[in-house]
Amino acid sequence: MALNYYCIDAGSQYCPCHLAKTENCLICSMMQGKEICDCRWQGICVYQEYMWADGKIEERKTIPASVVEKNFLTDKLVIIKIFIPLDSLVRELNQPGTFVFLRSEGSPEYYDVPLCVMDIDESNKILSFAVNIVGPKTKAIIMSDSMVLMRGPYWNGLLGLKHIKSSYSKHWLIIGRGIGQASIISVVKNLLRGNNNITVLLDSGTLKINIAEDELKKIGVIPQEFELNNAFYKKRLREIIEKNAVDFVYSSGSDIQHMFIQNILNKLSRRIPLIASNNHQLCCGEGICGSCETLIDGELIHFCKVQLGSENVLGG
Ligand SMILES: Cc1cc2nc3c(=O)[nH]c(=O)nc-3n(C[C@H](O)[C@H](O)[C@H](O)COP(=O)(O)OP(=O)(O)OC[C@H]3O[C@@H](n4cnc5c(N)ncnc54)[C@H](O)[C@@H]3O)c2cc1C
Ligand code: FES
Repeated sequence: MALNYYCIDAGSQYCPCHLAKTENCLICSMMQGKEICDCRWQGICVYQEYMWADGKIEERKTIPASVVEKNFLTDKLVIIKIFIPLDSLVRELNQPGTFVFLRSEGSPEYYDVPLCVMDIDESNKILSFAVNIVGPKTKAIIMSDSMVLMRGPYWNGLLGLKHIKSSYSKHWLIIGRGIGQASIISVVKNLLRGNNNITVLLDSGTLKINIAEDELKKIGVIPQEFELNNAFYKKRLREIIEKNAVDFVYSSGSDIQHMFIQNILNKLSRRIPLIASNNHQLCCGEGICGSCETLIDGELIHFCKVQLGSENVLGG
């Protein structure tokens, strides 16, 4: 059976994109060079949009952004705050699952690092990022004192976004481990607007700091400490899910963490969707470079663009 997926960019100002231009659109059969219209309908006709735009596409730009704060929490973890001069761009960035590519000024494009927008101060146009310093690209970023280069917004930072955007008065369990906690604040803020009940478990992992804790407390969500690698807590996780009648689980952390949680969910009597952070290697973010391509059920999936249920990715 064909996979049921959609394109994160379809219908946005960045659609049609380079994939349509090269007859590789992910959803429109006409923009794949076929002669029949047999699309994955997402509420817009990509073909018509392309014709109306006379073949022009809107590209995401790389803009300079000034660094307003840099705070080393440990020698491996930095919080960087940057100022974005454009109101419209700040609004586009204020979505759950948003990430951007950042690099230090003066570095070539291949230094671009995908980073979750951890938090946004919309009125002051300030974005916060948590950077775990692991290798050449992240080391280069944290050397930036006055300016960084930013490309975005990109919205496919988590898989299962539709559940978050459409959730109203449901019970969510959110589990963030290590640097994975960087994506949970925007998710929690979005869910609170939908009157959802939220339980948050934080595991500091190797970072030894819960980076989301203070901000969660400020918005009235008191997180519980958790250790995914501890047998006691593993048992406790199933109890929490069953006792609280959880409707959805969001896992932000490694693929091993996602698999572990998916295995617990698979053993329950009712189906609980798992929403998971997107951990693929991302380079262009546009479906072009191929670094995120993964073969699933015989189809090559571009994980920078494709929203696919975690059950297809993890085996639910
Ligand atoms: C959607 C998304 C959001 C992310 N958000 C954050 C964040 O908020 N904070 C944070 O510290 N890290 C985040 N990461 C991970 C971060 O992008 C990588 O740690 C970084 O690219 C490593 O680069 P490096 O040169 O410092 O280290 P390297 O030595 O090159 O790599 C170290 C590790 O990072 C992985 N990695 C390297 N390049 C990439 C890449 N282009 N895309 C994905 N993984 C890569 C490698 O597989 C390796 O496991 C995110 C990744 C993705 C895909
Ligand atoms: S990151 Fe380049 S194709 Fe997905």
